Amino acid sequence: SKEANGHGNPRDFVAKMKAGKKRLVIFYGSQTGTAEEYAIRIAKEAKSKFGLASLVCDPEEYDFENLDQIPEDCAAIFVMATYGEGEPTDNAVQLMQNLADDSFEFSNGEHKVEGLKYVVFGLGNRTYEHYNVISRQVDEHLTKMGAVRMGLRGEGDDDKSMEEDYLEWKDGMWEAFATAMGVEEGQGGDSADFAVSELETHVPEKVYHGELSARALTRSKGIHDAKNPYAAPIGIARELFQTTDDRNCVHVELSIEGSGITYQHGDHVGVWPSNPDVEVDRLLYALGLYDKRDTVIGIESLDPALAKVPFPVPTTYGTVLRHYIDISAVAGRQILGALSKYAPTPEAEAYLKNLNTNKEEYHAVVADGCLKLGELLQLAAGNNITARPTAQNTTAWNIPFDLIVSAIPRLQPRYYSISSSPKLNPNSIHVTCVVLKYQSAGERVPTKWVYGVGSNYLLNLKAAANGETLPLISDTGDAESATIPSYAIEGPRGAHREENIYKVPVHVRRSTFRLPTNPKSPIIMIGPGTGVAPFRGFIQERVALARRTIEKNGPDALKDWGRISLFYGCRRSDEDFLYKEEWPEYTKDLQGKFTMHCAFSREVYRPDGSKIYVQDLLWDDRAQVADAILAGKGYVYICGDAKSMSKAVEETLARILGEAKGGSAEVEGTAEVKLLKERSRLMLDVWS
Ligand code: 2AM
Repeated sequence: SKEANGHGNPRDFVAKMKAGKKRLVIFYGSQTGTAEEYAIRIAKEAKSKFGLASLVCDPEEYDFENLDQIPEDCAAIFVMATYGEGEPTDNAVQLMQNLADDSFEFSNGEHKVEGLKYVVFGLGNRTYEHYNVISRQVDEHLTKMGAVRMGLRGEGDDDKSMEEDYLEWKDGMWEAFATAMGVEEGQGGDSADFAVSELETHVPEKVYHGELSARALTRSKGIHDAKNPYAAPIGIARELFQTTDDRNCVHVELSIEGSGITYQHGDHVGVWPSNPDVEVDRLLYALGLYDKRDTVIGIESLDPALAKVPFPVPTTYGTVLRHYIDISAVAGRQILGALSKYAPTPEAEAYLKNLNTNKEEYHAVVADGCLKLGELLQLAAGNNITARPTAQNTTAWNIPFDLIVSAIPRLQPRYYSISSSPKLNPNSIHVTCVVLKYQSAGERVPTKWVYGVGSNYLLNLKAAANGETLPLISDTGDAESATIPSYAIEGPRGAHREENIYKVPVHVRRSTFRLPTNPKSPIIMIGPGTGVAPFRGFIQERVALARRTIEKNGPDALKDWGRISLFYGCRRSDEDFLYKEEWPEYTKDLQGKFTMHCAFSREVYRPDGSKIYVQDLLWDDRAQVADAILAGKGYVYICGDAKSMSKAVEETLARILGEAKGGSAEVEGTAEVKLLKERSRLMLDVWS
């Protein structure tokens, strides 16, 4: 509903609410779509619980002068993500400025929204320092302006418990909401979001088979971004680990030549995966749709204002499951109640119902057991989930496809820190990706292998690009041994082959993880494991600069450059040492300016047998580290595991800086670390 209803100002949300008889306006500050999804969920619940319609708004598309004009029997809901280091998402920048600016006048001529009923749900990540600050600010501004909150503000932690945080918050909120709005539960009907229809006739060229945009379907030229990824040819693709037991780490070079795509060191590349064959088949069988997998379907939104069809249509059942929705994720608790109604047996129905209502049971069985929806349907029906799914061993449920489309989120791109510099590699983007594979820990369900969707997809592509064969599940039929799931990458869409070149859809996401422009500033990089990825790009960036500088100013040109230190860690120097052969080359180019400190955690131990990690090497080098940061005004970068590594490194930095300033880690050290962050001289690119 991006167009105005009838005439009038399309940026006037109050007019739209009135025209559409909507008593709620829901603004979402969303970067990757999660906040938008929650906004839509809140809208759906308002409808199903109270029969109230909502206007779900991207704040970027509206003006806020009339925030004070929201009618008295209406309310505003803000679903706000905090991004990066405590910033609003791009689409909420204007909204945040308007709320914060005391001189910003609403149509009443004041910076007041007296009596406006509102509520806030925030999305943040506890591993970052500025947890949920944007939602807190929205709340503070609104209260200050005279608005009245209904119930408590909600805060979700993207690191661990977003879903549980939301579920925990919403019931109390709806109660307060009902009182404030004077409405009662049970007024709404059971409303489906989408209507799926099998198309008798269709134009074959218009059917989507995994394309992510209309431009991809028609193969028309245009800029490439998150809405229109580029099918990048795979160039060099190789294995980075020396040993071949059962760990893989792949280096993949994506060609961007002629694409118009540019990137910088420290940026991320989004790779659009598909789901592996085994999971597509499993769900097709469990939904009784295997024989219909190529049937062309149309999908319409029943309330386009509330929910857009999340992927392009017309398409096929098989394509939706393979390319467009995230069937490989752990099944959500919320949807199990609705699905239980379509169970093949009373036992299966009771099984799902119990998981839906019993939180502990859900955690022990579904979350700990890492069960995908397909597996859960199989388990509920008494099927064996470790065998290769077939029509014989998988019970078909009668679940309407509408419900599947509504309940399962869209398949998202996987982001990787780019491991190259455009100065040395202008025509390619390098990805360094450790292949994720582990055994589920659940005690209540069969233990099984869990495979990362994006990394195993890249491993498939790497093997195909080199003409290698992998021990694939689909070949052996044995899902129990630690083989690798196969993906449809031969084409024609999604990742595909054109002549002999494999292509994969990608786009670049800008970051602020950047080197200082002046090479005199010392830099300290800490990146164990694949955390080293962006630092390979950083060092290549400095190598390119060094070559140019030496060419221009002679062999002594790097004399006044700052020290470049890289703290790297892996298990063993002869096993998982990434880019082992490249570092000496970079050292030559950077003359004496580059030093690498390596922690081989399963090779070199302390006398007492304990492990040595990057943070220990940092501590050993503390005199130089403190000097580089305090005297040299240096820059520090941490990349990799957010949970334990980056925390431990920050603590070590605090100890080093506290000691250097003649104080303690807790007081002076922590203050210095905070200051470095504020000045963007300590930057993080971490993941969990
Ligand atoms: P480990 O597996 O022997 O424990 C890359 O994964 C490297 O990071 C490995 O050498 C790994 O060691 C190490 N590592 C694991 N936990 C870490 C932590 N908390 N801090 C720093 N390094 C860690």
